[in-house]
Amino acid sequence: MDKLPVYTQPGRVERLVHKNGLARVLILCSVTVVVWLWSASRYTVSVAKESVRLPFHAEETLQKCGMLHVQPGPPPDFARRTQSDRFVDGTPATLLKNASVWTGGPLQYEIHGADIMLDKGIIKFLGPSEDILANYGDFLTVDVGGSWVTPGIVDMHSHLGVDSVPELSGAGDTNSYKGPILPWLRSLDGLNTHDDAYRLSVSGGVTTANVLPGSANAIGGQAFVIKLRPTEERSPSSMLLEPPYTINDTRVDPALPPRWRQMKHACGENPSLVYGNTRMDTFWAFREAYDTARKIKEGQDAYCAKALASEWDGLGNFPEELQWEALVDVLRGRVKVHTHCYEAVDLDDFVRLTNEFKFPLAAFHHAHETYLVPGTLKQAYNNTPAAALFATNARYKREAYRGSEFAPRILAENGIDVVMKSDHPVLNSRYLLYEAQQAYFYGLDADLALSAVTSTPAKVLGLDHRIGFIREGYDADIVIWDSHPLALGATPKQVWIDGIAQIENPYVSEKPITFQTLPTTPDFEEQAKAAIKYQGLPPLTPSRAKADTVVFTNSLYERASLHVLDHGVFALHLSTHWIKNFDSFDLQGGSISPGLVSYGSPLGLEEIQGEMSTHDGVVLDPLTSNIPDLLVGNEVMLAVDGLQFAGRDTLLAYHGGVTSAITPPTSNGLVAGLSTAFSTGAAHALEEGAVIQEIAALHVNIHRGSGSPSVSSQIAALRHLLLEAASGTPFDRVAKGEIPLVVQAQNADIIASLIKLKKEVEASKGVELKLTVAGAAEAHLLAKNLGEANIGVIVTPSRPFPEAWEMTRILPGPPLTKDSAITTLLAHGVKVGIGILEQWSARNTRFDAAWAALESNGQISKSETLALASTNLEELLGVKPTVSLSGDLVATVGGSLLDLEAKVVGIISPRRHSVEWL
Ligand SMILES: *[C@@H]1O[C@H](CO)[C@@H](O)[C@H](O)[C@H]1NC(C)=O
Ligand SMILES: *[C@@H]1O[C@H](CO)[C@@H](O)[C@H](O)[C@H]1NC(C)=O
Repeated sequence: MDKLPVYTQPGRVERLVHKNGLARVLILCSVTVVVWLWSASRYTVSVAKESVRLPFHAEETLQKCGMLHVQPGPPPDFARRTQSDRFVDGTPATLLKNASVWTGGPLQYEIHGADIMLDKGIIKFLGPSEDILANYGDFLTVDVGGSWVTPGIVDMHSHLGVDSVPELSGAGDTNSYKGPILPWLRSLDGLNTHDDAYRLSVSGGVTTANVLPGSANAIGGQAFVIKLRPTEERSPSSMLLEPPYTINDTRVDPALPPRWRQMKHACGENPSLVYGNTRMDTFWAFREAYDTARKIKEGQDAYCAKALASEWDGLGNFPEELQWEALVDVLRGRVKVHTHCYEAVDLDDFVRLTNEFKFPLAAFHHAHETYLVPGTLKQAYNNTPAAALFATNARYKREAYRGSEFAPRILAENGIDVVMKSDHPVLNSRYLLYEAQQAYFYGLDADLALSAVTSTPAKVLGLDHRIGFIREGYDADIVIWDSHPLALGATPKQVWIDGIAQIENPYVSEKPITFQTLPTTPDFEEQAKAAIKYQGLPPLTPSRAKADTVVFTNSLYERASLHVLDHGVFALHLSTHWIKNFDSFDLQGGSISPGLVSYGSPLGLEEIQGEMSTHDGVVLDPLTSNIPDLLVGNEVMLAVDGLQFAGRDTLLAYHGGVTSAITPPTSNGLVAGLSTAFSTGAAHALEEGAVIQEIAALHVNIHRGSGSPSVSSQIAALRHLLLEAASGTPFDRVAKGEIPLVVQAQNADIIASLIKLKKEVEASKGVELKLTVAGAAEAHLLAKNLGEANIGVIVTPSRPFPEAWEMTRILPGPPLTKDSAITTLLAHGVKVGIGILEQWSARNTRFDAAWAALESNGQISKSETLALASTNLEELLGVKPTVSLSGDLVATVGGSLLDLEAKVVGIISPRRHSVEWL
């Protein structure tokens, strides 16, 4: 990710941007054809008249010269194709009957009751089918039954195949570290065809991805667009979508306009950090490189002016350099430049660069501050770049600190193209549509939200003549969804790429009927304005209710593991008929739910992931460090001593109904220390109710990995710590069953060893050990054993991703498997909680919980869903029931806390004796 490689995720340096306008693309197509005809005819005349004086390379050179100014695009007759160049012989024609089609717009976004014929790799027709079918041979029929159908999802910023999972040192091909300027490198040359993520991303509806080099360099190299389906050839080349002809041929076919190329650039922190540069150094590197390319381009233009005028005397060879040809093509406007760029300073620098060297920019990626400077984007050379964004992933480094969930809507209001992207594997691209759902939730227009992952990226990539839309003649890349695509948790029922169905025996989870229509979303007008007014740092401090008593009317009261009461009146302490002074708040059918709990990230211990000066720091590990004498005997640290309050992610979590967090000290080693439970709404540690429980549980990590002692050493050390603990120490308290031991472990074999160790310690001590496994990517394989051993599990993250070798055996859930890890564990009586990895996502806990229920096919009730992210977590992490029962409550309008329709408006906190408005 854009997080820098240095200490967070070695080898993963990423997060990127992009743009373009439809009208302009159409204009370019017509100009293309005219110029090309002119060049070709001129070339023919020259050869004929001057043949005697021509050098031996004249024909090839004149062809090159003739093509020099031709703009890329499909051949003129492309729209009349009857078969895709990617068609696989033997693929049956398929008729999708009775679809609710979202087409990709812009003239008509929705067509209901439509039939779609997929044949020869393209969409043969769209609409009522009776007349046409009479002439058709064999075809398969799929009754879509009115389900929503969209174009395949297009991910404009991915590292699929170059930053592969499981992450292995032999397969890290994202970044070269050979210098800041590398336009000659190509992601294609590192494309791993065995990445586990292809299948997973297809199961989320992703059909096309732009595979970009990383952001360690100012110019990281050329990107390639791929389709994600497996091919018969099994080669990287066979996955490519319209690659430039030059990938395997130096000759130019004068009958064809060139195809669009893609290139990665990056400004800001990543290239700076990697090369020990400043922003000034990086931009000089850009300017020096573009100056080199400009000189070559001007040399070529001067050369061709003479060659085309048959002035061959003393002309020599055509001036070109293989290293620089791609950057020269950028200056010819034939490359879609994608620039990873965050802050106003970087955006402004880059816009000046485009004007100094006169090249178009396709998109700014990551682009966290684009919403603050739309005017700057509009000053870019030739066209306004698009902004390719995350929905809520922000604040992970300084340049992302002012990122806003309202950026998509603000940019759209300013007429700038918005693309939502994954930066896979930074975000698992399987859930790219979720980014569009969140952008919609925070106010982006529904059609633009869906376009942001389909037709808009297709247009920005220069591929909107064949992907991103459901239109006759377009590639047969189609997704049938189990709900409206903007309803939370929308999951494919089936995915076609090039007309080939991708999921064998898909499992479909029944969604509530209300999920078949576009959800309504809350009003965030004021918050969006504040984001601009305060330049991305709007005040988040809640305001306290002034009255002693607040009465909420028209609410649905919900409490996990207690009972859901009927619609009615709920007062914090008292009924209202005899109180005089109270505030009343109409929840308009909203609800009051338990406050959610966050676990798994360093929330409360660090503010900006990439800035060590904002961190509590990493604890010393007794297994691998020299513990200073001062700490000997007190090696187990207390997170409560390092807590930081009122961080932005912490307060945003509070605004999202996450009213407390349980966080252990940060550790890379075996013993992390004692976690603490704290209020996410408190201003400082000494405020009433700020620290909910000083000590929650004892946390250790057991994992495989380079630099770690062996798993057997880690288990042996843990055994020793538990069996030989001095009386009164944290490990002794664990061994006596007083506080839980929480082991962060992913791998089923490691978890099996832990199950055995628990029995061993219990046999020795004669008390039941409270053991919780967190992470737990492969825990579902041992669900029965975990249930029998009474071991709880915190699934972190709640939707699995096989990031490392020790977590490859995930249970992916629908549509690939009927069960999810969560439903499997619950079915075996395991107490389950859900966690997160990074603190920015704490605010999304309500949606993570809802998602787990939505894919359970009705197996997880509403109160069980709330418990996954509240009472179960408290129990698994050692927060006492008395504390838990006096827990916070969250008031929402528009729906319940689990609904995309709902907005959190107030927090009721008995332990802080407060009602706060958000
Ligand atoms: C299309 O599906 C809808 C929803 O299931 C159904 O009501 C309608 O009758 C179907 N139409 C046809 C022509 O089958
Ligand atoms: C070059 O690559 C393209 C795209 O993969 C392919 O269609 C074409 O057959 C290749 N040409 C040669 C000469 O290998």
